[in-house]
Amino acid sequence: MEKIKCLITAGATREFFDPVRFISNPSTGKMGISIAKACRDLGWQTTLVLGAVQAPAPEGVEAVWAVSADDMLRETSKRFDDTDILIMTAAVSDMRPKKKFSHKVKKEDLNMAVEFEPTPDILKTLSARKKSQILIGFAAETNDVISYAKKKLGQKNLDAIAANNVSKPDAGFASDFNEISLIFKGGEILNLGRGTKDELAKNLAKILQKRFF
Ligand code: C5P
Repeated sequence: MEKIKCLITAGATREFFDPVRFISNPSTGKMGISIAKACRDLGWQTTLVLGAVQAPAPEGVEAVWAVSADDMLRETSKRFDDTDILIMTAAVSDMRPKKKFSHKVKKEDLNMAVEFEPTPDILKTLSARKKSQILIGFAAETNDVISYAKKKLGQKNLDAIAANNVSKPDAGFASDFNEISLIFKGGEILNLGRGTKDELAKNLAKILQKRFF
């Protein structure tokens, strides 16, 4: 049987507005890296597109680096047609500066110089091109977690979304722990509970294999 090909994104994108400054978020990439290890261990052919992360890329996984949302879109887009499942754990910066200066902007000019625009939505862009690929998103929320996650599942046309509450103590961003509810298209919710990111990733990968392949 052919190996399942999976594409996973992890970490934060950085949107530079001059050579030394960027806007970003506190994602460390740990969840996506744990999922990449779990998929590799199931025997899947695993590619990991990494933004800024604070953990090494695992062995036995192809690692590709991306800085900005544009880079991440380009690297995932290139591989999308030859992928069976895309798992987007990356915390893509919502906004980017409209203009990138080639010189360091003077402190006193910052307020005037930097205007923002939305970044491209990678999942939305790729789901419009979807053939038989399975698309899984992540939703980090601080309140009304399930209802916001369900909304994103629909808007981005996903097969499932993993929702987590990042306002809980020691869960989500930068933690080794997380608490996940997996919501499928159609509305079914599987509560994976709280655990280490490695434990949750193993469980999630097994569930995805059983459900979709
Ligand atoms: O940022 P948001 O809560 O909308 O993220 C939900 C899902 O969408 C995540 O899986 C994230 O990786 C993805 N996303 C994306 N492109 C963006 C923003 C988020 O693919 N520009």
